[in-house]
Amino acid sequence: MRKKIIAGNWKMNKTVVEAAGLARSIADQAGEISDPLILICPPFTALTEVAMALKDSEIQVGGQNMHAEKSGAFTGEVSAEMLLTSGCSHVILGHSERRALFSETSAVVNAKTIAALVAGLIPVVCVGETLEQREAGTTNQIIEEQVGGSLDSLSEDDMLRTVIAYEPVWAIGTGKTATPDMAEEVHVYIRGLLAEKFSQEIADEVSILYGGSVKPANAPDLFARENIDGALIGGASLTAELFVPIVKTMEKLEV
Ligand code: PGA
Repeated sequence: MRKKIIAGNWKMNKTVVEAAGLARSIADQAGEISDPLILICPPFTALTEVAMALKDSEIQVGGQNMHAEKSGAFTGEVSAEMLLTSGCSHVILGHSERRALFSETSAVVNAKTIAALVAGLIPVVCVGETLEQREAGTTNQIIEEQVGGSLDSLSEDDMLRTVIAYEPVWAIGTGKTATPDMAEEVHVYIRGLLAEKFSQEIADEVSILYGGSVKPANAPDLFARENIDGALIGGASLTAELFVPIVKTMEKLEV
């Protein structure tokens, strides 16, 4: 049974005080929910405070990025161990904003993914095509390159500990969502790639999240699809009033 996950990617938003307050509101409104797994990814500066605010809840905390090296002269970067010891269980890697704005290639994402797994963090590896690529009909090729490159040389065990997020770049922060059919089609394609690379059994165990303008209104139709195992949410994760109803949509599907 694949794990259902609703993750909030707060990006470069929220001061320490604001972040701890939002984490508490989400915990209060979500109550005891443990399925789906709720994951919150605040900026680095707020990780410790958010983890403290959530210590009595089931909600887990993740980083939004990390460096592949363990330590050293990498000004501005943080390591897997730093995330772990700040209370993180997960880390988002290869988000399209990292790929586009910070030149992260799939090889870089791969090195980070391996470093995260070695350290004991669960990587949430993001893939997704741009509008140009979709219109040129190259979505599958792009996804294949990003999945293959980012997950290169992972063992079966590694793969079982890794989460994938499909986030079409044209749907991120734009209010445009992939239709459930479009998202499901790519999720099926990704699962097929995992089956080829590993095995069908492994592919069937990997959670594949959808991201890109997920809101309370579009969540039910997306989550009803067989291969959509949750969401990675940006804008709508910045208030408990939008985020928690999405969590509850997934929880209700479970019963
Ligand atoms: P969005 O962001 O929900 O604001 O579109 C999703 C993401 O970038 O993870």
